[in-house]
Amino acid sequence: MKNIVLTGFMGTGKTTVGKILAKKLNRPFFDTDTMIEDQLSASISEIFKSLGEKQFREYESQVIKLMSSMDGCVISCGGGVVLNKSNVDLLRKNGIIVNLFASPQNIFKRVSYEDTRPLLKKLLNPLDGIKKMLEDRKTAYNNCDIAVNTDDLTPEQVIMAMLNNEEVKKILSVPEGIKL
Ligand code: S3P
Repeated sequence: MKNIVLTGFMGTGKTTVGKILAKKLNRPFFDTDTMIEDQLSASISEIFKSLGEKQFREYESQVIKLMSSMDGCVISCGGGVVLNKSNVDLLRKNGIIVNLFASPQNIFKRVSYEDTRPLLKKLLNPLDGIKKMLEDRKTAYNNCDIAVNTDDLTPEQVIMAMLNNEEVKKILSVPEGIKL
């Protein structure tokens, strides 16, 4: 059974949606950031500070390697996972890649009260910075099997949009009568 892999920029709802989806489908849930935090017993901010982004990306790729060897999971990926094409190739072998996206304004609203994202913390003008990062990463995020705009949707509606997609239905064989 294929994995469901949630990708997309920070603040697009991957972790929230992933947790609910996994529960509904009765599948194990994994969050790549949490896996790295658990492995190093440190927060993402601390890891960026002490080891730097390059080292963080290496841990991220190790986690992706591990996850791609698993079956039937819901995996929420850190927003930068898809920047490395080998990560995407590995995840795609046994997974359907979903890109959750939102407008820069909504992303800004959702993340501005949090202090957990080192790449956003260092931006002088956060909204412009988010716009630029989205532009720089556009090709990577567009390389997905299904995309869902989360701007005006609740997490449940995002899940419904994903599971009602014909391709997804086929691939996942969503059990008939699943209550969303
Ligand atoms: C990052 C996204 C973060 C986290 C790290 C880097 C990125 O994850 O992996 O701060 O490069 O987009 P979330 O997308 O879960 O916030």
